This record gives sequence, C-alpha cells and structure tokens, in this order.
Amino acid sequence: MKFFIDTANLQQIKEAQDLGVLDGVTTNPSLMAKEGISGEKNVINHYKAICAIVDGDVSAEVISTDYENIIKEGLELAKLDDKIVVKVPMIKEGVKAIKYFSSEGIKTNCTLVFSAGQALLAAKAGATYVSPFIGRLDDISTDGLSLIEDIRLIYDNYGYETQILAASVRHAMHIIECAKIGADVMTGPLSAILTLLKHPLTDSGLAQFLADHAKAAGK
Ligand code: E4P
Repeated sequence: MKFFIDTANLQQIKEAQDLGVLDGVTTNPSLMAKEGISGEKNVINHYKAICAIVDGDVSAEVISTDYENIIKEGLELAKLDDKIVVKVPMIKEGVKAIKYFSSEGIKTNCTLVFSAGQALLAAKAGATYVSPFIGRLDDISTDGLSLIEDIRLIYDNYGYETQILAASVRHAMHIIECAKIGADVMTGPLSAILTLLKHPLTDSGLAQFLADHAKAAGK
C-alpha cells in the first residue's frame, strides 16, 4: 500500500520523506490555507517546493467548478512538474474534466467521493486515483471503511485501473483496515503514520534489552 501524507506543511512532508516510507502528498485548499498560502504565485511556488521534497505523486486541487476553468487550471498545474496530479472534485463538470485529462495522459485524483456510485463514475472517466473520505463518513456515523470495501469489489469486478486512495484517514486503525481491504493508497496526517510505530511491548522490550546489555557490560 502506498503512503501519502495529507498536508501542505513542508516540515511534516520532509519528516515523512526522511522516514523513507513516503510515496506522495495530497493537499487541498483548506490545507494550503492552514499554512497561510494564498495568491496564485504563492500557491504555485508552494507546489514546486513540495515537489522538490517528495519522490512520488503530489495532488494539487483546482478551485474552479466550471469545465473550461477546471481544464485551464489543471493544465497549468500539470505543467509545473511530472509529479503533479490534478485533483478535481466529484461534480458533473469535474467528471467531464477528468475524462479530458485522462485522454491527454494527465494524472487526476477525483476528490470528495462519498459513495460507490461516485467512485464508479470516477473510474469510468479514467481517474488515476479516487479519494473516498472515510473519516468524514465516520464523522456522520456512516461506516467509511465499508465504502472502501464496496469500491474495491466494484473495481475488481471490472478491472478498473483507478487506484483507491483512502482519504480523510484519522488514525492507525483506519490505515490497517484499509490495508486489509486492499486500498491502493492511504493519505493521512503525519501523526497517523507515526502511530503505526507504537506498541508498549516494543518500548518495554527495548528498555529491557538495553538494561540487560548495560548490566552485562558492568555499566
Ligand atoms: C484528501 O485528499 C483530503 O485532502 C483529506 O484527506 C481530507 O481529510 P479531512 O477530512 O481530515 O479534512
């Protein structure tokens, strides 16, 4: 399973990259705003800075909602770097734009997906990635993970190549369950990735090993 980090924070992206397990980055307009990035030039420069850190795909989201401007914005984003994936919302104009980008060989990430029907449309339009937001479904007492299961089943039934990018991941159990289901990618905060490291028996076991070693060495 590929690990993407869901942030526009350069420090956190560097930290995840240094860990050696990072396969890409997802951003969205809210995450960019959180870092205080605004204005076309600053946004473009920020995407370039992210691409310079990361080895894999970097999702950059369009803010237009009409076909012509989604295409215009997406083409500008795509020419920034080969790593850029144009992130397009699951709306009618977005589906049309994904179809166009796909025919031009431009990578896309269909975002704000909350149902199996939306995921089916994204695959039919030729999206590179589909992003079901599991955490936000959980937030409204709907089982986000069962959506990942449904999409996996549908895509496997027909051999769709669109990669399931489990998004809005909130914690380690989301990541583990997504891996069990067979999501192709997960995107989440650095904290969720780092939580995978943790087990109390690892900490106590290591403390014991080091104490025994020190004792044997007469320290
Ligand atoms: C997906 O690409 C989105 O950026 C993201 O995962 C949304 O997550 P949130 O629900 O934590 O905002």
